Amino acid sequence: MTDKVVLAYSGGVDTSVAIKWLHEKYNLDVIAVTIDVGNEKDFSEIRQKALKVGAVKALVIDGKELLVKYFLFPALQANALYEGQYPLATALSRPLMAKLLVDTAVAEGAVAIAHGCTGKGNDQVRFEVGINALAPDMKILAPAREWGMTRDETIAYAQKHGIPLPITAQSPYSIDECLWGRAIECGVLEDPWAEPPDDTYKWTRSPAEAPDKPQYVEIGFEKGIPVTIDGEEMDGLDLIQKMNEIAGRHGVGRIDHIENRVVGIKSREIYEAPAAVVLIQAHEALEAMTMSRDQLRFKQKVAVECADLIYNGLWFSQLNRDLSAYILSSQRYVTGTVRMKLFKGTATVVGRKSPWSLYNLALATYDKGDQFNQKAAEGFIQLWGLPVKTQAQIQLLGDKEGPLSIMGPAESEEE
Ligand code: ARG
Repeated sequence: MTDKVVLAYSGGVDTSVAIKWLHEKYNLDVIAVTIDVGNEKDFSEIRQKALKVGAVKALVIDGKELLVKYFLFPALQANALYEGQYPLATALSRPLMAKLLVDTAVAEGAVAIAHGCTGKGNDQVRFEVGINALAPDMKILAPAREWGMTRDETIAYAQKHGIPLPITAQSPYSIDECLWGRAIECGVLEDPWAEPPDDTYKWTRSPAEAPDKPQYVEIGFEKGIPVTIDGEEMDGLDLIQKMNEIAGRHGVGRIDHIENRVVGIKSREIYEAPAAVVLIQAHEALEAMTMSRDQLRFKQKVAVECADLIYNGLWFSQLNRDLSAYILSSQRYVTGTVRMKLFKGTATVVGRKSPWSLYNLALATYDKGDQFNQKAAEGFIQLWGLPVKTQAQIQLLGDKEGPLSIMGPAESEEE
């Protein structure tokens, strides 16, 4: 009996060629697995194509709900943004795919798992580290990294083997989508000085063409998880899809990022992530109201750690497990509603409220009813500033350059 390999199959040219290639080169029967992570594709067509090209079996797995529950919402609770910009859509979908590929490989008795990534990107890292974590003895094959064919050679190989190519003019871009966003690379975008042309975007309207009237949306959170839009309860999947629509219509969520890949390359990435951008902003606003200064400062550091770890393919690390426990605990009081204004490409927080709000009007007000003891400020400042004052008396006053030397060397005057 021929050994089987489970292939992560997208329906594109590379993974289609991989079906043939794995059979030719390694004499493996290919089980094609396509995972729906919220990318609008015709999955039954993709399935048929896999079989037509020679897969012995083709499965489509709906991963959307798992993605939301185990990956997107935890990342939202963490406010995970890679390098402060990228909400990590692709990076969050890969560990889920790794899990579903491993489950399938075990169920089907496959000897290996294959993916279509090249050797230059992050996704190969995420797939393989994920598979290693879940099935340390599983063999991994990366045909597109191994075969060394150029784009044209791959297409020639496809034609020679009767693999159908997309009839429509090939998009000049490489695109990856999931519920949390759309990543667009290649073509003219490789020039970091070139503004992305209109055809880059699909989920967001150009801000110039967005409605002339702002739209207000109220997002309700329960322990850091968004549960309502404008008071209407929704499950996570519907909520994210609806938010993508609403915010996308207002041109919100476009990101242009020069990003540091795991493999050391800087790359220019365009993202559309309307829901992720709005939800993270709203979530941060609610945290600002319900968490202490110290909690917020600490959590911001953890957010950077989480984002790096997700980006770098370490989702299934024990460190992630530890950080997740902290993030979850931190969300105990992150319940309430945030009001966002969407207008011509921007999302602005314009209101927030929470039963656990730490905002105290009686302390904050400059009007009647002020309960803040202003007299106490005097003593507070004496102690707070004591170390600075002491140091100034002993060190600065004796400084040859005088007390102003602390402002740094004076700028030399140019002739
Ligand atoms: N740069 C992003 C990331 O590493 C997006 C990658 C998109 N992947 C792709 N195969 N086109 O997460």
